[in-house]
Amino acid sequence: KFENMPQAIKPTHIQGISLESIAEKYGTPLYVYDGEKITNQVHAIQKAFQGVPLKIKYATKALSNISILKLIKNAGAGVDAVSLEEVRLGLMAGFQPSEIMYTPSGVGFDEIQEAVDLGVMINLDSLPLMRKFGEVYGNKVGACIRINPHIMAGGNIKISVGHKASKFGISIEQLPEILEIVKEKNLRILGLHVHTGSDILDAEIFLRGANVLFETAFKFPDLEFIDCGGGFKVAYKEGDPRTDIQEVGEKVSKAFQQFCEKYGKQLELWLEPGKFLVSESGYLLVKTNVVKKTPTITFAGVDSGLNHLLRPMLYDAYHDVYNLSNPDGNTHTYNIVGYICETDTIASDRELSEVREGDILVIKNAGAYGFSMASNYNSRLRPAEVLVWEGKPHLIRTRETIEDLTRNQVVIDI
Ligand code: LLP
Repeated sequence: KFENMPQAIKPTHIQGISLESIAEKYGTPLYVYDGEKITNQVHAIQKAFQGVPLKIKYATKALSNISILKLIKNAGAGVDAVSLEEVRLGLMAGFQPSEIMYTPSGVGFDEIQEAVDLGVMINLDSLPLMRKFGEVYGNKVGACIRINPHIMAGGNIKISVGHKASKFGISIEQLPEILEIVKEKNLRILGLHVHTGSDILDAEIFLRGANVLFETAFKFPDLEFIDCGGGFKVAYKEGDPRTDIQEVGEKVSKAFQQFCEKYGKQLELWLEPGKFLVSESGYLLVKTNVVKKTPTITFAGVDSGLNHLLRPMLYDAYHDVYNLSNPDGNTHTYNIVGYICETDTIASDRELSEVREGDILVIKNAGAYGFSMASNYNSRLRPAEVLVWEGKPHLIRTRETIEDLTRNQVVIDI
């Protein structure tokens, strides 16, 4: 059912419910997620890797609403967390600690200890951390090592994290030091990990990352899993290719099974997709406040901005936008801009069916790194979130209020 399903380019409905009616009921700006799409994406990965013992650890940072985590849990995945808070969200969603991988980047050792106490798997990302971990836990607590494989990959440099100059992981060239610490501190290494970046199209890149681990693995006799990270590309534009997950599955599974045979033990294969599971399931519905014609440009100013969707501003990311309220009007060229006191262009030079004040515009691919990167900049409130599940819309986060904004402020007499 989920395979190669043509995706509506300008969907007006999710699971038979009109987006207009959702906008009317819950107001704008509003994040709306299609739960069925998320489940289907989990299943697509499971199917592509069906020949191996696969564990999907969903990269919670992409979209961390607890209801979404529950949905992903029900689809059969675990959790990849990058903060103690994400670990806790995972636990709140009902995941067992053993289903959670904690991949921090340069955190204090107190956080590591807390995570160990919570019972989750720790991914060690520096030599000093390995040493400290060994001094405190020796071989009592098993752990994983994040290897930087020196592979340049990803949609743009800001989201490329597996190259030589990246802060992430431990350089593969430092393998001798890694082995020395493992021996000296008597560490029990249960897993090896790579993650090279986000928006990676080419199946060969995933295979290259995996091969680095397969070659390295023979130095670690106690392994239980190999974690190949996430980073599968989604389609942001019409006609944009997605990572061929079936191809990645076939190539990586085959190499993995051959490796396991040589290693002499059937290990588990872990993956940490974020975007691939949730990006295309999400829509940010915004309302047009003003249509402003200048001598050169027509701006559609909407009730949202970089505070709700940072990706265009941060990465020059492309998000498709369409006019939900006026699908059949004459098309014009617009710059869709936010209401923040910055040049927060959401989309520039886009052909849209005529935009009028009050029209609802839909910003696509808002599921991943949308709400999770939202802020209160300009003292604006963060939007509500709605999950469409089993043909019904469910409010899964209420719109913030001024009370939320000021909750932690301590107003002194002055
Ligand atoms: N595993 C690790 C260790 C990661 O650092 C990440 C993402 C993932 C998995 C999931 O990657 P994904 O499958 O979602 O590509 N905010 C950026 C993306 C940053 C990703 C950071 N790490 C964006 O909006 O494009």
